[in-house]
Amino acid sequence: MAEEIIVPERISKTEKYEVLILQLKPLVESEADVIANMANLSAALKEVFGFFWVGFYIVRGEQLVLGPFQGPVACTRIRYGKGVCGMAWKEKKSILVPDVDKFPGHIACSSLSRSEIVIPVFHHGKIAAVLDVDSEFLNHFNKTDEKYLSEIAGWIKF
Ligand code: SME
Repeated sequence: MAEEIIVPERISKTEKYEVLILQLKPLVESEADVIANMANLSAALKEVFGFFWVGFYIVRGEQLVLGPFQGPVACTRIRYGKGVCGMAWKEKKSILVPDVDKFPGHIACSSLSRSEIVIPVFHHGKIAAVLDVDSEFLNHFNKTDEKYLSEIAGWIKF
């Protein structure tokens, strides 16, 4: 299949996710390498939605280590329970942060990031990575993002 994602600009967020998923799911399912899939997922989400930063942090022992991403250079290591990513790992759930300045312990890799959503990636019932998406706009993410990003993160197989 063509390695190109085509999603119209002037459709709703829900429609964009639906159109994106139709193209992205076969691409991910036909590739077994987790790094390659994380890289393409990050690129596709950044391209379609223009998010400020999209990427993965991978569990390595007691820390999250930066994985494939799209966007500005970011912090490389996050400790268990620290920041939004570390908290999503600790609490084993997605965290939606409408205003990062109001999240105690938020790790500001960039001062331009204003809101954020973090989705856990599970492997054999344990968190193996997190998908982190940041926006330079306040209150950018909602339950629609959580629903579709959770579906997308669920395709990641280690
Ligand atoms: N803000 C995140 C850290 C990762 S960067 O934003 C890319 C956090 O608080 O976990």
